Amino acid sequence: MKTKADLSIDFCGVRFENPFCLSSSPVSNSAEMCARAYDAGWGGIVFKTLGVETSFKVVMPSPRLNAYNLGDKRFAGLQNAEQISDRSVADNIADIAWLKKKHPDKVLISSIMGYTDPDWALLAKMSEDAGADLLELNFSCPQMAYKFSGYRVGQDFHAVEAYTEVVKKASKLPVIAKMTPNITDMVKVAMAAKAGGADAISAINTIRAISDINIDTFIPLPNIHGHSAATGFSGPMVKPVAMRFISDLYNAKELGLPISGIGGIETWVDALHFLLLGATNLQVTTGIMRYGYRIVEDMIEGLTDYMTDRNIISLSEIIGKASQKLVDPSEFNTRYQVVSVIDDTKCIGCGQCYISCHDGANQAIVFDSLERKASVDETRCVGCLLCKHVCPVWDCVTSKEVDTSVVKHAAIF
Ligand SMILES: Cc1cc2nc3c(=O)[nH]c(=O)nc-3n(C[C@H](O)[C@H](O)[C@H](O)COP(=O)(O)O)c2cc1C
Repeated sequence: MKTKADLSIDFCGVRFENPFCLSSSPVSNSAEMCARAYDAGWGGIVFKTLGVETSFKVVMPSPRLNAYNLGDKRFAGLQNAEQISDRSVADNIADIAWLKKKHPDKVLISSIMGYTDPDWALLAKMSEDAGADLLELNFSCPQMAYKFSGYRVGQDFHAVEAYTEVVKKASKLPVIAKMTPNITDMVKVAMAAKAGGADAISAINTIRAISDINIDTFIPLPNIHGHSAATGFSGPMVKPVAMRFISDLYNAKELGLPISGIGGIETWVDALHFLLLGATNLQVTTGIMRYGYRIVEDMIEGLTDYMTDRNIISLSEIIGKASQKLVDPSEFNTRYQVVSVIDDTKCIGCGQCYISCHDGANQAIVFDSLERKASVDETRCVGCLLCKHVCPVWDCVTSKEVDTSVVKHAAIF
């Protein structure tokens, strides 16, 4: 009988029954919505970002979304032009207080964005007084209609440090700094947040992008009365970029802060990937906008079964395990080389590997057009495995190591 895995985590001294949280967005826009998410099983919520209405008069553009469809996969990405909450601080704070009273054991993170120092301090203090467990500082919204706010603050080390410091002085709550991916080196910004006293980092907010253009009118989408803008992109398509940032943060030993991972998480495998790269806490928006709160049931069940099957009792046993395997490309062992192997019994003779290798790689596939069979010319193959990736038959193409002390390989200088 195996011991059932425990998904609970400690994040900045706060216990979450599981690492799954709503990220700050329309999915966490009101107390009623967040309460339903708690009931569905989410371990915590990050409330939709609060701003002070006398500083930010938020009027949402319309329409504010455009889904990016990739072949059959609808909603592979999502572009949004939404700003922070357009509700009053009083309403949002009342919701936070109500939620915390009704669900004292669930975690509530208040996401805030000030425009001035007093705004940041006020929102931090009001959130704390309403019962929030943690604060998340939104340094990362890509479409705020105010010049020096959102991701522009997140691109400025000094502002990130200064605002974090203001919040730390105003409240005793642990502070998470939410990073923009619209930057070259996230670690430097995270270090600035740390210098200001941040207790954790969350990443990523959305990536500035243009998801589509109407080729008749030349107007990019979403078409907001004849205009559009490069605005925040999220969902499965951003996951590889998000994972890179998570590993950068985790591997930056000088940073050493816990990470909340965000960006394209829809399934328990996505969640596991973020944990393996070093995230302790996880946040989701687009997956919920597409499928609803109930996706958390599969996430909890899938991750629990995966861990229980492998006798992994606690998440701390796997956090960061994949990031440890990432090295600088200069450290690759290039004495290790492979060539492709095509399983004759599985090849259906479609010729896809031949075409791709011929036009996109090293002309190492020999195709018998009468027999309709592909084979590998090992003297030309450089082991890129393009053929494996384009082959429609699972496991038809594999690889084998070659002895580089005997075979003079093209990839070895
Ligand atoms: C419509 C929409 C609105 C969002 N609003 C906020 C916000 O108010 N504050 C914030 O910190 N992030 C906001 N985000 C960003 C998300 O919290 C999250 O960082 C991002 O969408 C990536 O995660 P995902 O791929 O799971 O959606 C918003 C995202 C979307 C799609």
